[in-house]
Amino acid sequence: MKGTSAVELVGVDKDFGEVNALSGIELTIGGGEFVSLIGPSGCGKSTLLRVVADLEQPSAGTVTVGGKPPRQARVDQEYGIAFQQAGLLEWRTVAENVELPLHVHGMAKPQRQARAAELLELVGLADFAGSRPSQLSGGMQQRVAIARALAPSPRLLLMDEPFGALDEMTRERMQAELLRIAGETGAAVLFVTHSIPEAVVLSDRVVVMSPRPGRITEIVTGRRPAVGKAAELDPDDVEDVRESSAFFAAITAVREALRKGHEA
Ligand SMILES: Nc1ncnc2c1ncn2[C@@H]1O[C@H](COP(=O)(O)OP(=O)(O)OP(=O)(O)O)[C@@H](O)[C@H]1O
Ligand SMILES: [Mg+2]
Repeated sequence: MKGTSAVELVGVDKDFGEVNALSGIELTIGGGEFVSLIGPSGCGKSTLLRVVADLEQPSAGTVTVGGKPPRQARVDQEYGIAFQQAGLLEWRTVAENVELPLHVHGMAKPQRQARAAELLELVGLADFAGSRPSQLSGGMQQRVAIARALAPSPRLLLMDEPFGALDEMTRERMQAELLRIAGETGAAVLFVTHSIPEAVVLSDRVVVMSPRPGRITEIVTGRRPAVGKAAELDPDDVEDVRESSAFFAAITAVREALRKGHEA
């Protein structure tokens, strides 16, 4: 896999009848890279994610995921998905929800259980393995969804506004946790958000999109500590980033790019 990009979109268009949702998308995400998508509502962010995840077919252009067509990448569980709604199954326990993709993959029960325990530990929910999703708070459910997405050790995580419903402090803690997890697993992340500070603090690169037809107007360098160092990332480091002048400069750059997109 070394040298293979996590995602490659070349000349991608997506039309829904008359609606031109994506136009001429060119984007390559490197292995282990963290890329955020930001742009006004309806500009095609979720559509772009869905095209990568093989949940929509592009109208034109080519998409490869880990060097494979999206359909093959889906079958091989090359990526994990976490969307805004945690989407957990209420009739299964927390641990069984995390095991689900491994079950689909045909992994034997003892291995599945061991892996789920390890992941719940990672997201700080070891004590809730036997609980039902409805017994957890929204943020805890979101962490279960992230554990589930990570279960097959994907090289890529696709996340669509996963922290949208969380309070600010929980959200900041989840951001630090996500950076730690991505660093530990070496997974690339394609992350959709409406929050400029969130995009900047998490990302190697922030991709700014314009209103319909959705196109990439600018790519801003984020403030994530250099790739590879994230494994040793201390949540306090993230706090330092949040207070640095480079952080504010990147926020201004993204805000200006968004404003330019609106005026165009
Ligand atoms: N299945 C569909 N059928 C028809 N139109 C669709 C479909 N999915 C998305 N669209 C249209 O494509 C455009 C982009 O939608 P998309 O959901 O990708 O936007 P978004 O950037 O994720 O917005 P938001 O920030 O509000 O989530 C919108 O105009 C939407 O109406
Ligand atoms: Mg969306």
